[in-house]
Amino acid sequence: MTNDDLRTRFGIDTSHEWILQRTGIEARRFSAAGVATSDLGLEAAKRALENANLAPQDLDLILFATLSPDHAFPGCGVYLQEKLGLCDGPNAKFVPAMDVRNQCSGFLYSLATAHAFVRSGAAKHVLVVGAETHSPMLDLSTRGRGVATLFGDGAGAVIVSRTEENRGIGEISLGADGRYADVLSQKVWDIKKRPFIDVDADGNGRIEPEQLWPQMQGPLVFKHAVERMKQVMNDVLAAQKWESTEVDLFFFHQANLRINQYVQEVFAIPNEKVISNIQRFGNTSAATLPLLLDEANRSGRLKPGMKLAFAAFGSGFTWGGATMTW
Ligand SMILES: CC(C)(COP(=O)(O)OP(=O)(O)OC[C@H]1O[C@@H](n2cnc3c(N)ncnc32)[C@H](O)[C@@H]1OP(=O)(O)O)[C@@H](O)C(=O)NCCC(=O)NCCS
Repeated sequence: MTNDDLRTRFGIDTSHEWILQRTGIEARRFSAAGVATSDLGLEAAKRALENANLAPQDLDLILFATLSPDHAFPGCGVYLQEKLGLCDGPNAKFVPAMDVRNQCSGFLYSLATAHAFVRSGAAKHVLVVGAETHSPMLDLSTRGRGVATLFGDGAGAVIVSRTEENRGIGEISLGADGRYADVLSQKVWDIKKRPFIDVDADGNGRIEPEQLWPQMQGPLVFKHAVERMKQVMNDVLAAQKWESTEVDLFFFHQANLRINQYVQEVFAIPNEKVISNIQRFGNTSAATLPLLLDEANRSGRLKPGMKLAFAAFGSGFTWGGATMTW
């Protein structure tokens, strides 16, 4: 979906110039009706397993990061486990599966969890999937344009495995500030209410648009995003004892190119050390970082021994940073 598609197909009062200038986004992907988030996650998981030369039965844990799960419950992890064939036949392996609900920092929160399991010896191979199907839950109208023009669908996956070599995940730093929980949220239901959604005489649920669709105070999110991304990048680099100039490639969450350009300026990072895909995918929340990593890997940009640094910020507010030696 190009920026113009949003205007012509959905009748949103917006323009390619507005979206491009404010965010850097030129297009995003919308998956077809009938496709679930666990389906997108499945494709990514299959490719990650193939890259790692592993079978689904080699996995000890599935972590599924998403803010757009197939259903309210259960989580996507169990759907993915079944779709990977892990419940079938004599090779069935009932691998534990859990969802991580941390929005745009969900991938780094999941990576931290996988890292902890592998380091402790509790797991040898952990599948971490970040997948989102934002498109059906966006208010694709002029009323919703402040949010709907920013997000796209996608999935990425990695496998975190034990190695004796001196490489892999280094430092991870996570943080959260719940004072801003309502600033970027989707409150489809309110569990404080009895029942949790307004119900008419026929038993049909009724949800007001402000409750149905995600709401965001964009400029406030922007302000916090630049500060937290800067801070978390500082934290992980200091913990890893790397100067920012030593890092070969930076991976920033792709919410807005302007946020990342600001962080890039703070650390005086040259353009060739930053990888971006927001132009083609928009904000894919938990899928963003594994998508970027996969693109860097497949395009041959990653060489053994390279120093990588990651930072993400999202709803909650929550944020994370990580270092990695490829
Ligand atoms: C969303 C964002 C691009 C909006 O940019 P902004 O410059 O802050 O714009 P504002 O929200 O102040 O809106 C400015 C005007 O543009 C309008 N506008 C909003 N979205 C628009 C769109 N898609 N097309 C055209 N006009 C739009 C608004 O209605 C407003 O009009 P008004 O002044 O007449 O009320 C920016 O705030 C942002 O990127 N924030 C961070 C978002 C983010 O990172 N979210 C995810 C975190 S994981």
